[in-house]
Amino acid sequence: MANRKTTNAATKTTAKTAPKTTVKKPSAKPQEKKKILFVASESTPFIATGGLAEVIGSLSKSLAATGKFDVRVVIPLYSDIKKELRDKFTYLGNLYVHLAWRNQYCGIFSCEQDGVTFYFIDNEFYFKRPGCYGYFDDGERFAFFSRSVLEIMPFLNFYPDVMHCHDWQAALAAIYLKTNYCFREEYQFIRALFTIHNIEYQGQYSLDLLCDLFDIFGEYRYLVEYKNSINLMKGAIECCEKFSTVSPRYAQEIKNPYFAHGLDRIIRNNEFKLVGILNGIDDVGYNCALDSHLFANFTADDFSNKAVCKSELQKMLNLPQKPDTPIVAMVSRLVSHKGLDLVTNVIEELLQDDIQFVILGTGDAHFEGYFSDLARRYPDKFSANIVFNGDLSRKIYSGSDIFLMPSKSEPCGLSQMIACRYGTIPVVRETGGLYDSIKPLENGYTFTNYNAHDMMYVIRQAVSDYKNKEEWSKLMYRAATTDFSWSHSAKEYEALYLDMLK
Ligand code: GLC
Repeated sequence: MANRKTTNAATKTTAKTAPKTTVKKPSAKPQEKKKILFVASESTPFIATGGLAEVIGSLSKSLAATGKFDVRVVIPLYSDIKKELRDKFTYLGNLYVHLAWRNQYCGIFSCEQDGVTFYFIDNEFYFKRPGCYGYFDDGERFAFFSRSVLEIMPFLNFYPDVMHCHDWQAALAAIYLKTNYCFREEYQFIRALFTIHNIEYQGQYSLDLLCDLFDIFGEYRYLVEYKNSINLMKGAIECCEKFSTVSPRYAQEIKNPYFAHGLDRIIRNNEFKLVGILNGIDDVGYNCALDSHLFANFTADDFSNKAVCKSELQKMLNLPQKPDTPIVAMVSRLVSHKGLDLVTNVIEELLQDDIQFVILGTGDAHFEGYFSDLARRYPDKFSANIVFNGDLSRKIYSGSDIFLMPSKSEPCGLSQMIACRYGTIPVVRETGGLYDSIKPLENGYTFTNYNAHDMMYVIRQAVSDYKNKEEWSKLMYRAATTDFSWSHSAKEYEALYLDMLK
């Protein structure tokens, strides 16, 4: 109380006696927040088909939490966005967007979420369809989306300092900015950052579509043309001030043809503007002490309830409830770059050991068929769950002992980090973000060569170490307490944005 009085008195005195110039000082503008606009094709909590959405949702939130950025995100308004979420959106208005000879309706909705403003681009012709991708006209859909991002800026009176575009679906936003829009006064200072979450998907189209569909004219053809096609990822790399990958290791790897899916020459030519920043995860969302999806909650200091998670998981998946048999798990898209051919090569040999193996995910039909068949042949040892199921994934992360990610390439990977948070020890191949996040014996096991027997050797090493309960608990503790939050990486993005704005 006394203190408060003193402060008031002091303030009053200053206000009365100080000359005008001094009085003005305190009201001088606080440092303005830098304006960042994320352009992406998906984001949690609204729509997610993979890691991209998690990164957009959690990175934008942690950047906003620094208090230094006005962070906004723009994504398409897919019909798959749940009604409960849509009901919270505000309709801001609409305009018409030109793309070559097209003139398309563009509705704008918005919503505040965790300190971030989200915008949704509405056009039922393009986005009122199940799922997000896989349509014959995806090129046109995301060209419309990217063009809309630039067109809504005057409507919102929001011109970002940095427009941060993610993956090929947002590549055209950077391309249009640097070809058509940057000559207009309001757009001229917008810097473009392009993040590659996976170089495999580049947005490649026939050159015939250049003018008619993408509305890119002769003088700019050289920016997007690559190997006799349109390559939107290449165009964004050429146009942006900086581009990044989701781990430092992947930034190195994609200079090499083995990883670059044909783009290595472009990456090397533009190396001077390439940065690698490791993704984080939402450590509040993935918290074994609070996660309501788990059969029981536990902490890094007391893993005793993890045994409950394990035995309930075994029961749920019709596996024998054996507490001392290690469960090796995979939660993955069932596609070849996830290293599944290594698994199919040695799994029957591995299943001779005292282990249980659980797999969750959907993907290529031949992997789905192979694993379903394996589950029929080894019902006591192998559980195949050919679905995309968030609830079950958390039950698997928490109830398993060992988490396998033998990827051939992995831009970052989030599952190995999530597994760690739940005290499940990753066995990973040393590539991309797996290399950057998992350190042998510190928080997991790694192997170098893409070789099935190298992988099996390391899994067997982990299975044998698992029997030494005391050492294994220490390993679980180290894994669960590894800092995978955004705190480090958000600072790196912060430095990158500021560097771009110099
Ligand atoms: C892509 C990558 C994955 C990465 C995710 C988020 O899905 O394949 O490795 O973790 O994007 O950046």
